[in-house]
Amino acid sequence: MSKHVLITGATKGIGRACAERFAREGWTVTAVARTQADLLAMKKAFSGQQVTTITADLGTDAGIASIPVHPYDAIVLNAAIFAPGHLLGEEDIYGRLWRVNVWANHQLARRLLPAVRQQPSGHLVVIGSRGTDFQPPHLTAYVATKYALRGLYLGWESELLNSNVKTTLVAPGATLTSSWNNEEPPADILAPETVAEAVWTSVRSGITGRVVV
Ligand SMILES: NC(=O)c1ccc[n+]([C@@H]2O[C@H](COP(=O)([O-])OP(=O)(O)OC[C@H]3O[C@@H](n4cnc5c(N)ncnc54)[C@H](OP(=O)(O)O)[C@@H]3O)[C@@H](O)[C@H]2O)c1
Repeated sequence: MSKHVLITGATKGIGRACAERFAREGWTVTAVARTQADLLAMKKAFSGQQVTTITADLGTDAGIASIPVHPYDAIVLNAAIFAPGHLLGEEDIYGRLWRVNVWANHQLARRLLPAVRQQPSGHLVVIGSRGTDFQPPHLTAYVATKYALRGLYLGWESELLNSNVKTTLVAPGATLTSSWNNEEPPADILAPETVAEAVWTSVRSGITGRVVV
């Protein structure tokens, strides 16, 4: 039986590149996103490969409850909202970002890890950000949620240290995805496939801890 990975935010950017990387290795992929049309298009593009799609808004209780509990071999907690915003900006975006970037991942870990712990081995990969190594200007709310996620990750890492579940925090630098649609990308921007390769290598080789890309 093929191995099975759940990827949140799998239709675009880094999540999509991860889905392609795992599928190429013969893994079954369960792909989560909000936009059903994107998920249908993805299923078509992955024809011949094992892909299950789940339409869910992970910022809601109903969305979290709709994610199937299963003894996944790997879980990639990737979905997040990226939005620039100053502390004293006109729109207060913090609550919206907190709900998806932090609360949803906390809920998913609580929901999904017990079944993974029942099997011989599993791997939890969390997508963080290089932004927690410095404080980029004008990203106050976004980077604060990534610091919070890093804090959650550190707790999960120590709680799961002597268990069957490996943990990795993959921290990408700027990566060329739709997150950059309204921003000028830096010259050294990463390809999503480069980040996906780091995720895949972590799972394949059992690399744990923080991996900076
Ligand atoms: N791009 C960068 O420069 C960069 C740098 C460092 C870290 N990261 C991190 O890398 C991860 C992926 O970023 P990305 O740039 O690849 O993002 P992206 O291209 O914007 O894709 C985000 C994915 O998440 C899904 N999504 C968004 N909100 C959701 C929700 N409420 N419920 C379910 N799915 C949701 C989107 O689909 P729908 O819109 O259809 O839901 C999409 O599939 C994030 O954790 C981000 O913080 C990115």
